[in-house]
Amino acid sequence: MGEQGRRLVDFCIPCNPYFPTPEMFAELADNLEHVLRFYPSDSATIAGELARLLGLNPATLAMANGSTELITWMDHLWFRESVAIPVPTFGRWTDQPMETGKRVDMFPLRELDRFALDLDEYVAFIRARRSRVAVLVNPNNPDGGYLPRRDVLRFMDELVDLDLVVVDESFIDFVDAERDPSVATDAAIRSNVVVLKSLGKNFGLHGVRFGYLVANPGLAARMRRTLPKWNLNSLAETVVFMLRDHGLEYRESLRLLARDRYAMGTQLARLPDFTVFPSQGNFLLVKLAPGVDGTELRDHLINRHQVFIRECGNKLGMSNQFLRFVVRPQADVARLVEGVQAFGRQQWPDELARRRHADRPA
Ligand SMILES: Cc1ncc(COP(=O)(O)O)c(C=O)c1O
Repeated sequence: MGEQGRRLVDFCIPCNPYFPTPEMFAELADNLEHVLRFYPSDSATIAGELARLLGLNPATLAMANGSTELITWMDHLWFRESVAIPVPTFGRWTDQPMETGKRVDMFPLRELDRFALDLDEYVAFIRARRSRVAVLVNPNNPDGGYLPRRDVLRFMDELVDLDLVVVDESFIDFVDAERDPSVATDAAIRSNVVVLKSLGKNFGLHGVRFGYLVANPGLAARMRRTLPKWNLNSLAETVVFMLRDHGLEYRESLRLLARDRYAMGTQLARLPDFTVFPSQGNFLLVKLAPGVDGTELRDHLINRHQVFIRECGNKLGMSNQFLRFVVRPQADVARLVEGVQAFGRQQWPDELARRRHADRPA
């Protein structure tokens, strides 16, 4: 891992650097013995607390050990033959149904459109393929592309005849384009819509494993009956109960993160080999200039600068020319920029750099 004694900066795992606060971690540490020794409460008690926190009816919730567990169970319960999904996206949305023999209809998002999803084209694609389930990840991972709430509602309205429409809102708390971007309450009054949330993503606690879905009481109850008893651990329960007292800090963390996203996006866009795509998530997707190798840049950054980034070569619909950077505070971004510039100097020795510069339009 390169130089000794230098802290690794993680631009790979999409954590929220401002939440939980150090005080909250101290509170958790103080309670750890009690938390780990005893069984958690039953799901109904935890769901009741979560519902109070979110202002939702507990009958519309089903909670699981990370939202990946819910993707798995949705596939077993409700994906019968085919599922449509725009790509690139989170790998489990394509891999899970393929592993169980379903047809996955992948709708390609185009770099030319800056990975923006055209909903009318997506609906036409779903009709042409006769897909029975449609998934929409909003904002999408890895590009952070976002669709306004009114468009997602229109999408849900157009697909009332499908077996299921899933809106994955794992990153929606990071949106600042509109005040109330979630369609969770709308899902609860529709016959075929499920909204998926990941507390790990929102609260920066991936290890706790906590996700939930919101759907009409019939669908939510079906999922609750399927999930194993005591699938939530005491640490997840403790976090849910702590959130009641830390709403202010959470909202402040989101404000800081949106500020950092803007600053970091501006800085990365100034780097000559980087094209940055617009994002409403807590990460930024970047395309490298032709001839710059993403795998080499990733290895250079980790080996020489202790900066860890996500190279997207293993994502369907991407190549190793694409990199994803988690939004981080300015001091960390300075280290990233320094590392990228050092890589550029090494890649483009003086003569080449001069020629490259001369080739550029004024
Ligand atoms: C869009 C999306 N949905 C769901 C998940 C799964 O999250 P969890 O950690 O809650 O299982 C991820 C993880 O990266 C994701 O990117």
